[in-house]
Amino acid sequence: MINPSRILAGLALGLAAACAQAESGPLKDYDPPLDPAFAEQIRQADLEAGAAFFERKCSQCHDGFKEGGDFKGPHLWNVMGRKAAAREGFRYSPAMREVKRTWTYATLGYYLKDTETAVPGREMNFVGIADDATRANVVAYLRTLSDAPEPLP
Ligand code: HEC
Repeated sequence: MINPSRILAGLALGLAAACAQAESGPLKDYDPPLDPAFAEQIRQADLEAGAAFFERKCSQCHDGFKEGGDFKGPHLWNVMGRKAAAREGFRYSPAMREVKRTWTYATLGYYLKDTETAVPGREMNFVGIADDATRANVVAYLRTLSDAPEPLP
C-alpha cells in the first residue's frame, strides 16, 4: 500500500534539498542576494581594521592604490562595480572569466567568504574570510578603493 503521508514527507525533503542547494554554488550559476545583516555590518564597518586586514592578507598579491597596477592578482582600484575578470591585460583563469557578474557588496561578500565554492578553479590562493564582521570590514574597505565609491548599502 502506498502511504500518502510518506509521499508528502518525501516531497518536502526533496524541496528542502533543492532550496538548500539554491543558496550556494558557483557565482556563474548563482546570483547571491545581499543579506540584510551583512549589509548592516558593512554600514557599521571598521575601515581601519579592513585596511589592516587587506595589508596583511591581500596586498602581497593585490595593489589597492589608485596609481598601482596588476601584481600577482589584478589591480583592485575601482573593483566594486566592475565586471569580474575585466582588467585588460591581466591573465585571469578560465574559471574567473566564466563568472560574468559585476562585483557588488553581495558578490564580493560571497566570493570572499569561500573563494573555491564561489569560483571553483580560481587561481587566487586564498581560502576566504569566514567571519562575517571581518569580511564586512574588508568589503567596506574595498568600496573606498574607487574614484567614485558606491553609496553604502
Ligand atoms: C596569493 C595571492 C592572492 C591573495 C593572497 C589574494 N588574492 Fe585576490 N586574486 C588573486 C588572483 C591571482 C586573482 C585572479 C584569479 C583568477 O583569475 O582565477 C584574484 C582575484 C581577485 C578578485 C577578482 C578581481 C577581478 O578583477 O575580477 C578580487 C575581488 C580579489 N581577488 C580580492 C582579494 C582580497 C580582498 C584578498 C584578501 C582578503 C585577496 N584577493 C587575496 C590573488 C590573490
